[in-house]
Amino acid sequence: MRIAIGSDHAGFVYKEPIINYLKKLQMDVIDLGPESAEPTDYPIYARKVAETIRDKHADFGILICGTGEGMSIAANKVKGVIAGIAHSPFTAKAIREHNRANVLCLGSRTNTLEEALGYVEIFLNTEFSDNPRHLHRVQLIEAIEGDKQ
Ligand code: RB5
Repeated sequence: MRIAIGSDHAGFVYKEPIINYLKKLQMDVIDLGPESAEPTDYPIYARKVAETIRDKHADFGILICGTGEGMSIAANKVKGVIAGIAHSPFTAKAIREHNRANVLCLGSRTNTLEEALGYVEIFLNTEFSDNPRHLHRVQLIEAIEGDKQ
């Protein structure tokens, strides 16, 4: 599985441990930066990861900022991307199972590293539900996307 990952300065501290965790699981990791915790702007990295997913160069994306919120808002502007924030085991599962998220957003100021690693594991091990009502809802989201373009 190919995973694209990015952060801002706030999320940087979680990026390396998450990369190491993914590599232990034999994942192919594409690190899209940043390379240090120097102050930067989360939309830059949200865009890089989201466009990598859109262009099918990775299967899933992971974005880390202080709260996950800014990353999610920015990544969801890219067509084909469904970015969801995990802040509990339940939300880590639900954004895959119900929302078919392909980008996981995490907050370094809202969750511990151990919690964040747990959400990565849950997210990557959860399939999209085969209940047609969830597919119907995702198709309604895609219709909104179509209206915007
Ligand atoms: C950076 O201070 C912070 O605003 C950012 O990491 C993120 O939480 C934005 O949503």
